[in-house]
Amino acid sequence: MARVKVGVLISGRGSNLKALIEAARDPAYPAEIAHVISNRPDAPGLDYAEDHGIATEVIDHTRFAGRPGFEAALTDSLTSAGVELVCLAGFMRVLTAEFVDQWANRVLNIHPSLLPAFPGTDTHRQALAAGVTITGCTVHLVSEAVDGGPIVGQAAVPVHPGDTPDTLGARVRAAEHRLYPHCLAQMAAGKVRVIGHGVEIADRTVPDGVLYNPGV
Ligand code: GRF
Repeated sequence: MARVKVGVLISGRGSNLKALIEAARDPAYPAEIAHVISNRPDAPGLDYAEDHGIATEVIDHTRFAGRPGFEAALTDSLTSAGVELVCLAGFMRVLTAEFVDQWANRVLNIHPSLLPAFPGTDTHRQALAAGVTITGCTVHLVSEAVDGGPIVGQAAVPVHPGDTPDTLGARVRAAEHRLYPHCLAQMAAGKVRVIGHGVEIADRTVPDGVLYNPGV
């Protein structure tokens, strides 16, 4: 079975990258993590990828005069590695409309809230300040709107009394590590069809603890 080649873009810790690499170790998984790019030379996630024999590259955004040059370097690197799908995993750069158009419906992102609630940064602090009792995480296709593209999957996570952004973040992250590999598999297997601002997912299965986009 030909597996879909995936490029993962990171900026830091890389725990979602690790979850994707782990999932793709199963030969039956429909995607292969073929290439990892970090915009930060010191991202710990790079070491994990290298230890698993995955090609890595640092493309430091500070070395470019503007976003177009940085993104052209990203596209060059991804296309020469034969990448077909891109996963953003804690990648802390906003992408331009040009990049998004070029990779239309081929870039996934994971965000640590139930979008459209709490987009942007400091998500868990926002959730705690709002007093929600359920939060979660979202895998979505990347569009021009930050944290705004079609939702592929969501997992719900309870907020516990006394939670801090750190304790809540750790609980949400555990759900992220189940959700992201599952959504990537659905994309790679061609089960996700974008219809307007939503998606239709063929053959939807629901692993433990993961609540899916009810769909169109
Ligand atoms: C995750 O919480 C993800 O949802 C957000 O950035 C964080 C990245 O964490 N986009 P890691 O680098 O994957 O550990």
